[in-house]
Amino acid sequence: MKLTNNRIIIKYFGICILTTFLILLIYEYFDDASLKTNFTTKLAEVKCNNFLRPYNKSRFVKLEEETTYSIKNIQEGNGDTNIYQVYSITWHTKPIWASKDILPYKFRNCAFKNCIIRESSDDTSHEIYDALLFHHTEMNIKVPNKTPGQIWVFMSYESESHTVKHFLKKEWDNKFDWVFSYRSDADISFPYGVLHRRHTQSEKNYTSLFQKKSKSVAWVVSNCKSVSNRNQYIKKMMQTIQIDVYGKCGKTCSSSWNSDKCFKDLSKDYKFYLAFENSICNDYVSEKVFRLYQDGFDFIPVYRGARNIKDILPNGTFISSLDFSSPSQLALYLKNVGSNESAYTNYLKAKDKFFSNGYTRQEVLQFMYCSVCEKLNNKYKRSPKLNLTTWMLEKKCIIPKDV
Ligand SMILES: *[C@@H]1O[C@H](CO)[C@@H](O)[C@H](O)[C@H]1NC(C)=O
Ligand SMILES: *[C@@H]1O[C@H](CO)[C@@H](O)[C@H](O)[C@H]1NC(C)=O
Ligand SMILES: *[C@@H]1O[C@H](CO)[C@@H](O)[C@H](O)[C@H]1NC(C)=O
Ligand SMILES: *[C@@H]1O[C@H](CO)[C@@H](O)[C@H](O)[C@H]1NC(C)=O
Ligand SMILES: *[C@@H]1O[C@H](CO)[C@@H](O)[C@H](O)[C@H]1NC(C)=O
Repeated sequence: MKLTNNRIIIKYFGICILTTFLILLIYEYFDDASLKTNFTTKLAEVKCNNFLRPYNKSRFVKLEEETTYSIKNIQEGNGDTNIYQVYSITWHTKPIWASKDILPYKFRNCAFKNCIIRESSDDTSHEIYDALLFHHTEMNIKVPNKTPGQIWVFMSYESESHTVKHFLKKEWDNKFDWVFSYRSDADISFPYGVLHRRHTQSEKNYTSLFQKKSKSVAWVVSNCKSVSNRNQYIKKMMQTIQIDVYGKCGKTCSSSWNSDKCFKDLSKDYKFYLAFENSICNDYVSEKVFRLYQDGFDFIPVYRGARNIKDILPNGTFISSLDFSSPSQLALYLKNVGSNESAYTNYLKAKDKFFSNGYTRQEVLQFMYCSVCEKLNNKYKRSPKLNLTTWMLEKKCIIPKDV
């Protein structure tokens, strides 16, 4: 009798140790994710918090089962609907860059895992989904009928000046419920990058860095025309300061023009780099500037773009064209800073206190899938109701008047 009791105790003790070990393992996994980016940190936090809450079956779907839900079952109310509420999502117009295998485990890292996603839907099947996703550049299609209660999500990662033309067809008016965008006021907001503070300062010889630089301003560009008049602005600057243009419109770089190596090599010789956006819109701060906060990009970003850039990048780590009344004023300032070692290296030192690792397309999609799933679970409703046209145009991108 006693022996059996002991056996039971030993058995339960074993199970307990095993469970603890499993929990630790899962925590390790979250930890790795949280190192990477702010957003994964956020996701990991949500996940861990959920993990610590009492187990709620309606919120969790076991991983292996992710693929076993069939649309048919959901539609017909089969499957274990007493236990699980499953939401179905589909791309109606998928971005061309989102290949089928871009995300093998679509909801594994999400706070809510009870969603399934189809890669595409046609006009005969789209009405059974809880949410339809539309990517802006592929929207030159017949506008589908909308099932009552269905959620339509508009996705654009580009500035409004490039987005507006794709949805202004009358039939799209009033159709969308949520917006995914870089804008901070979007329902699902995901910026191009985030800066993190470095825990340890790099030990660079800034004097030597400065002394090795023999050239002043570099600019790498692919799109030779743009709506922000940036070419005109740069032409005016060129009357005061030497600017070397690389990329599709200029000289060839040491390696392919958009590669990190090209930038790192340029930063050995050049003091400044022009991070000029193709449009001037609030919150529109692209990877053009975030990428300059990586290791080995030792030049000062000269930024022209979002008017609220000072809320996004730390003061003293970049120079903003908006602080100057004209291109020649900015060029003069660059000349001054570029010939004053302490003024110059102060910028570099301030910049080196931060780092950024831009997001991959996988991360963008992952964030979108998780957010849509979470919002479906939370029955998120935007208030007041979205009018996409108004939303796009209310914070108009400006045509700058300093040229
Ligand atoms: C479980 O989750 C569902 C959906 O999020 C919620 O409605 C329900 O109240 C939760 N139950 C408990 C016991 O927390
Ligand atoms: C930094 O570089 C400068 C110029 O190359 C040199 O004179 C100086 O000794 C170096 N400082 C240190 C701490 O190595
Ligand atoms: C930003 O830095 C400049 C000098 O680099 C300083 O004059 C200014 O006061 C700072 N602004 C803020 C808001 O800290
Ligand atoms: C160089 O810049 C520093 C600020 O970092 C300033 O105090 C100093 O006066 C400048 N020197 C010259 C010669 O302009
Ligand atoms: C949405 O906003 C646009 C522009 O502000 C307006 O012309 C249109 O009538 C609005 N649509 C609806 C359905 O309210």
